[in-house]
Amino acid sequence: MTLILGIESSCDETAAALVTSDRRILAHRLAMQDTVHRPYGGVVPELAARAHVEVLTPLIEAAFAEAGVVLADIDAIAATAGPGLIGGVMVGLVTAKALCHAAGKPLIAVNHLEGHALSPRLADPTLAYPYLLLLVSGGHCQLLRVIGVGRYLRLATTIDDAAGEAFDKTSKILGLGFPGGPAVERAALNGDAKAVSLPRPLKGSPEPHFSFAGLKSAVLRAHQSGLYRADDIAASFQAAVVDCLIDRTKRALDVCDDVTALVVAGGVAANTVVRSALEGLATSRGLRFIAPPLWLCTDNAAMIGWAGVERYGAGMVDGLDVIARPRWPLDPDAEKARGAGVKA
Ligand code: KG4
Ligand code: ZN
Repeated sequence: MTLILGIESSCDETAAALVTSDRRILAHRLAMQDTVHRPYGGVVPELAARAHVEVLTPLIEAAFAEAGVVLADIDAIAATAGPGLIGGVMVGLVTAKALCHAAGKPLIAVNHLEGHALSPRLADPTLAYPYLLLLVSGGHCQLLRVIGVGRYLRLATTIDDAAGEAFDKTSKILGLGFPGGPAVERAALNGDAKAVSLPRPLKGSPEPHFSFAGLKSAVLRAHQSGLYRADDIAASFQAAVVDCLIDRTKRALDVCDDVTALVVAGGVAANTVVRSALEGLATSRGLRFIAPPLWLCTDNAAMIGWAGVERYGAGMVDGLDVIARPRWPLDPDAEKARGAGVKA
């Protein structure tokens, strides 16, 4: 059995976890920064980095205390090395390097997206490779064929905004608060999804990718028209996102006939309407549907620790000279999608 310390600090959550190769999470400590960023309606990178510095070491100490282990007991330290807000990534990675150096432990530099991509395997021991993954977070919206540790085929990505970003911007436009995704989901519960006619960008397109910028602009126009209730716009927006996600996922399943499971991960996978629509699609295709528990969908350190377990098991460790990367695609050979793209 191996024991890994996982560290996450790539956005606005600081987290430390102790995870074993037999899928036990001995401890997980997480600090949110919502109160730091709420006055600005979005994450301010420099404030995020400073907040990580303040809380990371106490969180790691608390995780060790909770698990009843010490630094000497662990096999390696896995830290997010990108992609993400570079100041925050550096805080976690440098902390991990210092601990590795002091304790003589190997470092595992984890791609944050690989953390999300493999998290369903932490939750479900029966999930085998390959599977089709819809990775939907604040910075990413991708469909990936997950072949094995470190082996990904990117089938689609967003050509503009990520799905979570669209949720966050919609929340800001409608004045629903921060963080945006859960706020929009709550408002949508009281709204009529058919009240506002909104576009489904790229739905039915032969191009495999996602696009959400046009939807966001349509939300802004609907709001400015003064004709609709915020709850109705939220519900209509959420329905449009779900339609786009399902349409694009169907297309990916058409070209991915050897997978036995449809898997969703990333912050937007915490949305219950998104989850149930994907579950329906999987069932209609005779596939298993796997979604990690809600707390494992949004950023956390258990998924980084688990990616560390998988990489350590495959002999993939890194030198202390490994660098923090603001951008880091899971599939480096993927063709560049048209449009500005996001972090990967
Ligand atoms: O994976 P994550 O925690 O951080 C990134 O790596 O980006 O994802 C955060 C994103 C945010 O955009 C947030 O609004 C969205 O996930 N999100 C949701 C929900 N919970 C979080 N979006 C829709 N519905 C939710 N319930
Ligand atoms: Zn994430």
